[in-house]
Amino acid sequence: MSERLEDIAAAMVASGKGILAADESSGTIKKRFDVIGVESTADSRRDYRELLFRSTNAMKNYISGVILYDETIRQKAADGTPLVDLIKATGAIPGIKVDAGAKPLIGFPGDTITEGLDGLRERLADYYKLGARFAKWRAVIDIDTTKNVPSRYTIDANTQALARYAALCQEAGIVPIVEPEVLMDGAHDIDTCYDVTRATLVKLYDALYDARVKLEGSILKPNMVIAGKKSGSKNSPEEIAEKTLRLFRETVPVAVPGIAFLSGGQSDEEATANLNAINAAGAQPWKLTFSYGRALQAAPQKAWSGKAENVAAAQAAFAHRAHMNSLATLGKWQGALEKAA
Ligand code: 13P
Repeated sequence: MSERLEDIAAAMVASGKGILAADESSGTIKKRFDVIGVESTADSRRDYRELLFRSTNAMKNYISGVILYDETIRQKAADGTPLVDLIKATGAIPGIKVDAGAKPLIGFPGDTITEGLDGLRERLADYYKLGARFAKWRAVIDIDTTKNVPSRYTIDANTQALARYAALCQEAGIVPIVEPEVLMDGAHDIDTCYDVTRATLVKLYDALYDARVKLEGSILKPNMVIAGKKSGSKNSPEEIAEKTLRLFRETVPVAVPGIAFLSGGQSDEEATANLNAINAAGAQPWKLTFSYGRALQAAPQKAWSGKAENVAAAQAAFAHRAHMNSLATLGKWQGALEKAA
């Protein structure tokens, strides 16, 4: 496969395909395993991720790339094959989460800053040797209008860090996924989400230009424009699609080849229905696909529940969600397909 950044980026958003975000840190995967009553050990984490990567048809047909965590990119399957080789054998591209997590931002209660720039050049060189051809860095922007969160400063600091990360990735031959996640956990309405996401994306692309990042070799991983979970209001997929697209047409340069959404705590079906509405709204300057963690994995995790005899059922659950989201990237999903499954 071509090693040019723009070719890798184009392959990450190939038609009908999206990204599997399997880069939960050890702390986050433990939380997910607690829900299904599975002890989180290096072996249980390996067994679970191996079953996803061995879902051969789903991986071949619907998954363009997999975001891994540091432990996973170094792990071997039960038979000794590196997990990275399992992914590559399906035609999907291995990627790696390189940020060190969102930490409280000093002086700004409620805001966070994502850390991980120190030593990043060396770590990227190492990950390239391990097979990674794209990376992910997640900035977290919370909304709490009663507390002046987010501050202008947190948006500046986080987008500056994203730009420095992106430039270092490109130097290493790695496509940066830039992820400025505006959280949907708060009590805000959809228009507040619009305003905060707009302020974030404007600063982000300013920072990326300033850092001389080549946008053709980058992918944006944003939230959709959506009301906070605690607002008590639910927007229709059509309203989410209309506002999300209006915002992106205002702020995301056409040089960016693709936008791969996070699911952010939407239910599996919501994440699919909203992506479908976005793609059913007509042609756009960029590919619009998924880079889902929870919305692809909640169903297979539940089906697996840590038992070897459930592996086939878990793979079927993963294949179903991947298929539904693939259809959504084409605007061809319908709720009736879920009922039939
Ligand atoms: P969710 O789809 O669960 O939000 O995770 C995607 C991701 O990678 C967040 O960084």
